[in-house]
Amino acid sequence: MTSAENTPAAGPRPGRYPAGSRAFPHRDLLAVGALERHEILFLLDEAEQWVAMNRTAAKHTDLLGGLTIINAFFENSTRTLLSFEIAGKRLGADVVNMHAAQSSVKKGETLIDTAITLNAMRPDAIVIRHGSSGATALIADKVDCPVINAGDGQHEHPTQALLDALALRHALQARGQTADDFTGLTVTICGDVLHSRVARSNILCLQALGASVRVCAPPALMPQGIEAMGVEAFHDFDRALEGTDVAMMLRLQTERMSGQFVPSPREYHHLYGLTARRLANAAPDAIVMHPGPMNRGIEIDSDVADSIDRSIITAQVEMGVAIRMACLDVLTRRRRGIAGWGDPA
Ligand code: NCD
Repeated sequence: MTSAENTPAAGPRPGRYPAGSRAFPHRDLLAVGALERHEILFLLDEAEQWVAMNRTAAKHTDLLGGLTIINAFFENSTRTLLSFEIAGKRLGADVVNMHAAQSSVKKGETLIDTAITLNAMRPDAIVIRHGSSGATALIADKVDCPVINAGDGQHEHPTQALLDALALRHALQARGQTADDFTGLTVTICGDVLHSRVARSNILCLQALGASVRVCAPPALMPQGIEAMGVEAFHDFDRALEGTDVAMMLRLQTERMSGQFVPSPREYHHLYGLTARRLANAAPDAIVMHPGPMNRGIEIDSDVADSIDRSIITAQVEMGVAIRMACLDVLTRRRRGIAGWGDPA
């Protein structure tokens, strides 16, 4: 990493990406894998104004006044659903949450029929979380409004990767380091990589921004052929942490496991838990991240998770609202008739 020359990014920066809708030419946000580097930077820069607003007392604008956003969550979620709900409300939109437990899905309605039903209510954006990889793309194909993927199976969770990048940018800036891109930075993602859409989206996002990515997992939780994504794969956590600038910990996603993937939580903690002693193998002042929900004492110890100097876990949650505000704003510009973003739909 090179040292400071930057002031915190204040908003979209002309010249960094094409103007108007060409800065983000997609109707939907389904996967980081579909984004160019400049499109990622555009969303991060757009989010900075919302980070600033969210730190003021008022925290509200009517930018999306009159628009309806449906959060359709077919899988349990606390922080992601709340984060999208707060984001939509702070932008002045009408936000409606649909929980699968209360929906017609339980009565046997197909996903496509659900999509057609939601679409008939003329929403201006739909945010979807679903347990099956590819479900959000299937729905996006059937509706007329922008769709945001809030996590689909083991595939992607693009807003998580974007908020992680924004939190990392802020942490690096606070240390006086160049945070405009992550070239020279090594990030180690450790845990249940096999079942993690967060890992996949983060690998793609961090690499697009220039970082080197290592992944670490027990053999049973490491996807076959992960090296093809350009990462270095480790089973030995101490080696994976050597000299790393960032340790990103993942939860054991037991709800996605059929059968026994790890001998016991105690054994897992012994080999793969992030402890203060282990963190000493990383670069001095290495940053600790976790997308939540955390299992304290399994993949991460409380003293590490709560370390004011090292952990940016609560900043990740804060940045989540700002990133989701940026995504909702940018994706609805066309239908709001914003100059340069095409005719209203
Ligand atoms: C993650 C998810 O649901 O993909 N959580 C989140 O969105 N913050 C990771 C997890 O459930 O462990």
